Amino acid sequence: MPETVARPAVKKQKPIPQALFTMLTLAIVLAALTFGLSFVQLGSLRALFALDSIQTWWYVTRAAGLLGYLMIWLSTLWGLAVSSKIFDPWLERLFTFDFHEHLSLLGLGFVTLHIVVLLLDKFQPFSLLQVLIPFLSAYRPLWVGVGVITFYLSLLVTVTFYMRSRISQKTFHTIHYLSLVAYLGATLHGLFSGTDSPLMAVGFMYLVTFLSIIFLCTYWLYLIWARKAEERAQARKLVQQKRRGKAPQHQTVNRIRS
Ligand code: HEM
Repeated sequence: MPETVARPAVKKQKPIPQALFTMLTLAIVLAALTFGLSFVQLGSLRALFALDSIQTWWYVTRAAGLLGYLMIWLSTLWGLAVSSKIFDPWLERLFTFDFHEHLSLLGLGFVTLHIVVLLLDKFQPFSLLQVLIPFLSAYRPLWVGVGVITFYLSLLVTVTFYMRSRISQKTFHTIHYLSLVAYLGATLHGLFSGTDSPLMAVGFMYLVTFLSIIFLCTYWLYLIWARKAEERAQARKLVQQKRRGKAPQHQTVNRIRS
């Protein structure tokens, strides 16, 4: 998320291991549950989890897609709140930055699950090329293609978290602004390629999450505008003070000449 504030200068451990650990634990628990239940003979239990259906992996990919979307939304929202210094009275900056990074990693983790499971699915089969190259998908090619581009954008934004010391601040911020484009891409992709979008609850989720981003984004832009206006006013004041400082000298010289 765009950050207009400097990161705390405290040396800290990068959160990749913890976030990866959380993500891997979640993935392993989910996979173990799915495989474990597929051996259970209780027909009703298998039916409850749709394990007797060709659509099992299709359901998993959709659930992972929705969770990935929610994590990306929360990370974007959190980033905007951090940039707007909303949490500053209550939370340590170090914590808010770390949490932002964790959310992005979790989002990427769920999206990776969403994509990998798509390759296992036999209900709506996808090849590796269709998953990696935008607009090759036979299923809703435009909006799935938007999803592929969004994935690359999210990857780029997250990777640059860890390259900050090697790239300029300007490059970092420019790339980081792309997270807003990635969020928009994730919303359009989910909304227009998702089977669940027509459901009222899911539609409501997209609406509320989208409006919350618009709201915070407007507030964040307003703060930037207000800061720039303040800087311009200060600069004007300084110029006026300098002019006024010179004026008496000028007038004095004129008086002596006359
Ligand atoms: C940041 C990247 C991505 C996010 C946040 C994301 C999220 C989502 C969401 C929320 C849905 C709707 C699920 C539903 O309504 O049940 C969805 C559907 C789908 N996504 Fe993604 N996705 C991403 C990338 C990708 C990529 C790279 C592919 C690869 C081809 C892909 C393929 C699909 C497909 C085929 C569907 C339709 C599944 C359905 O019928 O619901 N997505 N995605």
